[in-house]
Amino acid sequence: MLKNLPVVAAAIGLGARVALADAPAGEKKAELCVLCHRVDNSHGAPILDGLPVTYLLKQFEFYKSGKRFGPAMQTNLSPLSNQDLQDIADYFSSRPATRAVAKMTADRQAQELGLTIANDLACAHCHGQNYRGTKDVPRLAGQPRVYLAWEISRLQRDSSLHPAMSSSGRPVPQPDIEAMATYFGSLEP
Ligand code: HEC
Ligand code: HEC
Repeated sequence: MLKNLPVVAAAIGLGARVALADAPAGEKKAELCVLCHRVDNSHGAPILDGLPVTYLLKQFEFYKSGKRFGPAMQTNLSPLSNQDLQDIADYFSSRPATRAVAKMTADRQAQELGLTIANDLACAHCHGQNYRGTKDVPRLAGQPRVYLAWEISRLQRDSSLHPAMSSSGRPVPQPDIEAMATYFGSLEP
């Protein structure tokens, strides 16, 4: 995807000599990843399809350096070259966003509570309309509920990862996190 090239080049510091990211090559290189990162996954792994290239590359670096803990990613990403990482990011990013599961048990009350809390905290300010993400900010809509709850807690614990989360200075209580996760997970990606 040529349009992503300057961003990718800047993200990994290759400057003008960057090789083209190659999504079809990435598909092959991502064979192990999709064992877990697929729509019908049973691992509760987040859906990578349609996430921004810059976001994916940044998470790859976090896993490789140990800043983000994830043994499956550490093992599978460590042997890969920068070209491989670019190809894999490009492959996932070029795919249409899908939801984690076809059907989710509707908990209307939790969804409405989550909507209210997310509005109060202005999460959509950056995460795009209906939480579908932007070209730089990851989408939250349709990700697995369990992953979202876990991830919001993680980001909140280390404010350097997500300064916006605790802009009010007060931690978001766990029941509010659960409600937001239910709400985001229920949205169409
Ligand atoms: C054994 C299952 C498994 C395999 C194989 C696996 N992952 Fe993951 N991945 C997960 C789980 C579970 C999470 C969520 C928890 C975490 O961060 O550790 C995750 C999280 C991620 C995230 C963070 C997504 C986000 O929205 O922040 C990225 C990026 C990622 N994986 C990329 C990869 C890539 C690329 C590969 C292949 C090289 C891969 N994973 C292989 C299970 C797996
Ligand atoms: C000022 C902009 C901004 C606001 C406001 C914001 N976010 Fe984020 N969020 C981001 C960015 C940027 C990232 C990607 C961080 C990175 O690059 O590592 C992110 C990442 C995330 C992720 C990780 C997604 C994934 O795939 O793992 C979650 C979950 C999240 N935000 C939840 C929230 C919630 C909940 C709120 C409201 C309390 C919120 N965000 C408010 C900018 C924002």
